[in-house]
Amino acid sequence: MSLRVGLFDSGLGGLTVLRLVHAHYPHSPCLYLGDTARVPYGERSVDEIRSISAEVVRWLKAQGIGALVMACNTSNALALDVAVAEAGVPVVGLIDSVASTLTAKRVGILATPATAASGAYRRAIHACNPEAAVLEVGCGAFVPLIERGDRQGPELRQAAIGYLAPLIEHGAEAIVLGCTHYPLLAPLLRQLLPDHVQLVDPALAAVDRLGPLLANLGDIPEGELHQTPGEPIPLAQTRLCVTGCAISFAAAAADWLGTVPQVEQVQLRSSA
Ligand code: DGL
Repeated sequence: MSLRVGLFDSGLGGLTVLRLVHAHYPHSPCLYLGDTARVPYGERSVDEIRSISAEVVRWLKAQGIGALVMACNTSNALALDVAVAEAGVPVVGLIDSVASTLTAKRVGILATPATAASGAYRRAIHACNPEAAVLEVGCGAFVPLIERGDRQGPELRQAAIGYLAPLIEHGAEAIVLGCTHYPLLAPLLRQLLPDHVQLVDPALAAVDRLGPLLANLGDIPEGELHQTPGEPIPLAQTRLCVTGCAISFAAAAADWLGTVPQVEQVQLRSSA
C-alpha cells in the first residue's frame, strides 16, 4: 500500500496528531514531514506561511499520498486554501474539525502568535456557535522551548501561567490546544488549571473526520486495533522526514512516540 496519509508540521508538534492517526488507523501508512529547518512557523509572516505551506504540500503530493491532515494549526489558520489547491487529495483541517464539536459557551484558545492573530479559531467557532465567547492567546514562548526538549521547566511554567491567566479571567470552560506542539504540555497545563476546565486537543476531531476518507480509499475499517495510550506505536510502515537534523529529531521524538524512530532528512526546494 502507498503512504496513505500525509501530515506536516514545522517540527515535533504534528507527531501528536500522527500518534492519534496511528492509534485509530494502524493499517494506513503515514508520511510525516517535520519542516525543522524552518521551525517555528508561528513567528513568520502570513506570506511566508502560505508559500512554505504550498511547497510542503507539493512535496507530500509528489510522494503519492491519498489524504492530507493539516498537523499544523498555523498553516491550517493561514493557508488551508493553499493546501486544498495544491494537495489534489482530500484535506482534513484541525480548526474546522474541532470547532464543530465544541459545546462550551466560553472558550479559550492557546495558539501560536500567527494563529491567534489570524482569528481563524474565533471565526470557525462562531460559524458553528455564534453565541460562544472566544478568547485567543498567542503563546510565542512555547514552541521554541518544546523543540529544545522542555516540558515542565521553570521558564515554560512561568510562560504558561502568563498565557493561562487571561483565559482563566475570561471564565473559559474549555481551552483548545490550538497548536499541535501543546498536547506535549498537557500535564503542565492541567496542573495550572482548575479541574472543571476542559483541555481540548483538536486532533481527536480531525482523526474522526479522517475515518470516512480512509474507508473511501478502501483501507481496513477504523477501530480494529486501537492502541492503548503509552504503548509504542507501530512505526514500521511510516516514513518520517525532516528538513533539518534527522538525528536530533529522532531523539526528541522518542519520548512522545515511545520508541526511537528512523528519520530521513529530505531537501525541499527552499528549505536549505
Ligand atoms: N505546531 C504548529 C502549529 O500547530 C506550528 C508551531 C510553530 O512552528 O510555531 O501551529
